[in-house]
Amino acid sequence: MTEETIPDTMLALRLKGVGMENVVLEEVAVPRPEADQVLCRVECAAACASDNKIIDQGGKHSLMSGWDVAKWPATLGHEGCVTAVEVGEQWADRVQVGARYAVQPAIPSGPTRFKERYNDNARGVRKIAIGYTLPGLFAEYVLIDPEVISTGCLLPVPYEGLPRFTVALSEPISCVVAAQQHSVHVVKDTPSAPRRAELGLLKGGTTLILGAGPMGLLHIEIAMTHEPATIIVSEPSDERRATAEEFFAERAQQAGVELILTVPDELDGVIAEVTDGQGVDDCIVALGIRAVQQKSFDYLGHGGVTNLFGGLKAGDSVIELDARRIHYDSVSAVGSSGGDPSDIAEVLEMIAAGTIQPGKYVAAVGGLDAARDLIGAVRSQELEGKGIIYPSMRRALERVDGWSAEREGEFLA
Ligand SMILES: NC(=O)c1ccc[n+]([C@@H]2O[C@H](COP(=O)([O-])OP(=O)(O)OC[C@H]3O[C@@H](n4cnc5c(N)ncnc54)[C@H](O)[C@@H]3O)[C@@H](O)[C@H]2O)c1
Repeated sequence: MTEETIPDTMLALRLKGVGMENVVLEEVAVPRPEADQVLCRVECAAACASDNKIIDQGGKHSLMSGWDVAKWPATLGHEGCVTAVEVGEQWADRVQVGARYAVQPAIPSGPTRFKERYNDNARGVRKIAIGYTLPGLFAEYVLIDPEVISTGCLLPVPYEGLPRFTVALSEPISCVVAAQQHSVHVVKDTPSAPRRAELGLLKGGTTLILGAGPMGLLHIEIAMTHEPATIIVSEPSDERRATAEEFFAERAQQAGVELILTVPDELDGVIAEVTDGQGVDDCIVALGIRAVQQKSFDYLGHGGVTNLFGGLKAGDSVIELDARRIHYDSVSAVGSSGGDPSDIAEVLEMIAAGTIQPGKYVAAVGGLDAARDLIGAVRSQELEGKGIIYPSMRRALERVDGWSAEREGEFLA
């Protein structure tokens, strides 16, 4: 079923080998869906620091499972909002032509197609992703495979009025929501009471966030929903600390959370002072630097949890840790990559309710011809927030100070 005229060709940003020099915007055929697939028009897509990880690692990235991008180019982009334009028979009852969908790009399934391109014929592969081995969203159209739909990863947008960019940003926000729910504390109300496990950052505790890039900023916002008494943010960039201050100082005050911004060199002293030498209850490492991930254990107090949110490169991911800290101090480490459809659904509700306002995170917008520049700007950490690409447009990357439904409408007009 289809309602609109679908062109024969489209532009797509493809990775054709390892390295930025192999990221190419090119004309390719618009794929047409088989009975078990759906073709969607991409309304908008956001860039993420993780795009650069697949660019730098190609088949060695853990979500690629050996897929050689030099032989089988990958279309990049995994945060987006799409509209179904042609629906294969199998999904006629489930996917509506013309309806808008959010995408959970991390698919908890092995692939149904091209198994021979993965290591060992995809045996043991239990997670694949859009913008990695499945077609990505920096393109005018995207073909959605059946495993995306059967796992609930193509989610109808629940409210018509949600601007496209907010739907795209539900993905990175969902990663943060999922990550913070992975932190588990074993608590007791009194020494003689039974133990219980509590999901999430410790209520009334001290949370430390390392890195205030776009993801670190989102972590600050979501951390406040767990009601810690104090949030310490460590970030070397003056601009990024200033952005964190501008976004959250007032909100934290209203929520009764003490927000402390500091630099890595002063962090030990700040933690010692704030926690009276005890160490923090939660640490979120919102960056992908091995030494910092290792060091994060040192900041933890008794029962503290470090959340290794930033992924490390293959071959540079082994860290040392003092087993006595686990034994005597009950510290632990958790991690997660991406979220589930339930996290996207939760975030869309939060956006609709105004609990999260994603507009403030938008720092750049552009047409599909700006997608490569955007990924470069994310790599060089030039943006104090997220960048949104509208694939139907051809427009250079433009810096903006926040975004809204109105501004999106004007841009697209
Ligand atoms: N787990 C997931 O689901 C998930 C999802 C999206 C992104 N990520 C990862 O999260 C990480 C952060 O993403 P981002 O877009 O904010 O990246 P980014 O590179 O823009 O930000 C990292 C920040 O860390 C700061 N930093 C560097 N050294 C530091 C130190 N020693 N102490 C404190 N801060 C320091 C940098 O100045 C920078 O501002 C990336 O590794 C990304 O791949 C993970």
